[in-house]
Amino acid sequence: MADKSFLVRKAAVLGAGVMGAQIAAHLVNANIETLLFELPGDADNPNANVTKAVEKLKKQEPAPLSVKAKATCIQPANYDQHLELLKDCDLVIEAIAERMDWKRDLYTKVAPYLGEQTIFASNTSGLSINQLAEAFPEVLRHRFCGIHFFNPPRYMHLVELIPCKTSDADMLDHLEEFLVTYLGKGVIRAKDTPNFIANRIGVFSLLATMHHGRAFDFGFDLVDALTGALIGRPKSATFRTADVVGLDTLAHVINTMRDTLPEDPWHPYFAVPDWLQGLIEIGALGEKVKRGVYQKIKNEIHVLDRAEQTYRLSAAEVDEDLKRLLKYSSPAEKFAALHSSQQPQAQFLWSIFRDLFHYCAVQLETIADNTRDLDLAVRWGFGWNQGPFEIWQAAGWKQIADWIQEDIAAGKP
Ligand SMILES: NC(=O)c1ccc[n+]([C@@H]2O[C@H](COP(=O)([O-])OP(=O)(O)OC[C@H]3O[C@@H](n4cnc5c(N)ncnc54)[C@H](O)[C@@H]3O)[C@@H](O)[C@H]2O)c1
Repeated sequence: MADKSFLVRKAAVLGAGVMGAQIAAHLVNANIETLLFELPGDADNPNANVTKAVEKLKKQEPAPLSVKAKATCIQPANYDQHLELLKDCDLVIEAIAERMDWKRDLYTKVAPYLGEQTIFASNTSGLSINQLAEAFPEVLRHRFCGIHFFNPPRYMHLVELIPCKTSDADMLDHLEEFLVTYLGKGVIRAKDTPNFIANRIGVFSLLATMHHGRAFDFGFDLVDALTGALIGRPKSATFRTADVVGLDTLAHVINTMRDTLPEDPWHPYFAVPDWLQGLIEIGALGEKVKRGVYQKIKNEIHVLDRAEQTYRLSAAEVDEDLKRLLKYSSPAEKFAALHSSQQPQAQFLWSIFRDLFHYCAVQLETIADNTRDLDLAVRWGFGWNQGPFEIWQAAGWKQIADWIQEDIAAGKP
């Protein structure tokens, strides 16, 4: 890998779902010749599935393609007819469903077709890169790593680069340079720990938010009203973000945490709630099928009512005093008020921040090289204005740590 003239001239993306199709779009945005593979359709039209996925890109918002006409630059392919084409690719990115067994089966199938220099990377959200690598013959393992884009990949700045034990060091440097200079991404090197950095913290935060939202008996729309722009996070907040990610994908990521982190002190949080499982079972997988926690009915946004299991008009009200507090106070004043308040919405916010800070402090050493990497991963991957450690520091490091300690001593859930 000592080749200094590393260039990605041609790439392939395996899997034309939410992520794969959009990653292919972003590659052609950067003028890289790109093949997009999907499972074959029927015998008459084996490329039917992938062609449909490419067509969808033209209508998607926010636009994955810089101009719609770029869709014609994505070359449709399927595993029955086109594996031979992989040998000319400098980079292959796998973005099929989040299942270790399915990914490993696919690697076994494609390995004989890869070119002598082809780099193969997985867009897995958090499966073990070392375990995935084992599906390749030993001679190919130095050309494998994780390359984790965030959704939507054209717009989310973060890409986590995750080496396995055998990943070639020069290859990682080349990929980082490529991701930064050609695709305009911010790269964080992550360790091969479950869900890497951004999802480990972001999904933990989502689970803690679900836990406390339920304890306070708040509707999904109220939780979103409280956990979006009001606290420096994207409008999509918690449950709308889950819809955008895909509820099935989210469940896979939660299950990865459940299965691979049995010793994690917060393990009881790592469970797919009944209502989420229920939505998955009826095929309400979120934005990709236009129904999930939310759905649009006659131009109005409706939200799932957890207790009734039916949809109702979304109409959450945030307490006016709380809104003012969050808007106009300094970080230290804000957290002091949240911590001491008896108002349920304020108590809810204190609880989710407390758990987030505590989790980051406990896990930092295991999952990231430093606080900066963790903060940037969460900012770039989840679109928060500030990372957890930045928020904590601005609010007063010692004071918050003391309050966390008090809550632990008081056995607060
Ligand atoms: N959705 C997100 O927000 C997000 C973000 C970052 C990373 N990821 C990861 O990207 C990958 C793809 O996720 P997605 O959201 O695009 O999923 P998706 O459900 O939208 O698409 C999955 C794709 O995999 C294909 N597929 C399923 N089983 C297969 C098999 N056995 N062999 C070959 N292809 C198969 C399907 O046809 C489909 O095109 C996953 O590893 C996921 O964890 C997802």
